[in-house]
Amino acid sequence: MLCGMPPSREELARIAAMRERFLDDERGPAAQRDYWRDPADLQAYDLVLAARIGWKWDAALAECRARGFLPPPDATVLDFGCGTGIAARRFVAAFGARGVRCHDRSVPAMEFAVRAFAAAAPGVAVQAQPDVAGLAPDVLLVSHVLGELDERGLASLRELIGRAARVVVVEPGNRTTARRLAALRDELLETFRIVAPCPHAARCPALATDADWCHFFAPPPPEVFTDGDWVRTARAVGIDLRALPYAFVVLERRDGARPAAPAATGNRVLGRPAIGPRAATVRICTGPGLREIAVAKREWPELWRMLRKQPETVRTLPPELLR
Ligand SMILES: C[S@@+](CC[C@H](N)C(=O)[O-])C[C@H]1O[C@@H](n2cnc3c(N)ncnc32)[C@H](O)[C@@H]1O
Repeated sequence: MLCGMPPSREELARIAAMRERFLDDERGPAAQRDYWRDPADLQAYDLVLAARIGWKWDAALAECRARGFLPPPDATVLDFGCGTGIAARRFVAAFGARGVRCHDRSVPAMEFAVRAFAAAAPGVAVQAQPDVAGLAPDVLLVSHVLGELDERGLASLRELIGRAARVVVVEPGNRTTARRLAALRDELLETFRIVAPCPHAARCPALATDADWCHFFAPPPPEVFTDGDWVRTARAVGIDLRALPYAFVVLERRDGARPAAPAATGNRVLGRPAIGPRAATVRICTGPGLREIAVAKREWPELWRMLRKQPETVRTLPPELLR
């Protein structure tokens, strides 16, 4: 597991303490002080919390690929708020790149991210990028950063997005952050095409009421269930490694004349279905709004079974169910 070595007792204590900080979901947008004081924290974070974030990236990137997202193989990728750089590692493993820049307000974080990336992808040039002013990345990655930015931080991220050709943002699936991400997405509709996850180019319907938020669950890797080190680690730090809620959006800058917004066609399953003995109730996003659809076990036995056993793998419902 975990790059060969389970976390030590001291690392587990560090992870548990960090987990408390990152769990404070309902904290409003407020800058936190730089918390990467001790390089041992970065190491401990990378072993478990970053690995968990990496699984969310894998799910988001698989959906991008299914939607035909194909960044150029010679792209320059910028990981903004890189921490230990898991986003860059997962992105380059999936799509490749010519070069990677790791940016964080924390110098030790950038140094860690560069070292970890170089070890994971020795053929790809990587460097720390303390200043992002004027940079126009082919691909901008943002991972679990939105919740830490105050208005000023968000404004500088907006500027950077304004110069990027493609943007991939993966955030925790909690209500506050997912709604923040949806609002940012809506701001960018004029200049970017939505690659994923939206089945439409309308404003985000999850923002229409206070109750909703656009989020998904990534499939946990098998080792979470089978590897004793992962099982013990999860128990020791109080993380449910089987639940991987995330929110994400992938955007591609529009070229030239803006094409008309495509008609709302598809649907995207949100959150987790509620499974009953006769039907599963599934919340979906469509252009006109969010809907709840009952999937009857008798009429859709295979789909009902998938929704019960592997709900993370069901991204869309068949159109016949929406009529
Ligand atoms: C929760 S960590 C996520 C790290 C990494 N992206 C990941 O997904 O594992 C948030 C990171 O954002 C960085 N950060 C917070 N505010 C920032 C800002 N205004 N500019 C650059 N980095 C920032 C922090 O130092 C930290 O490394």
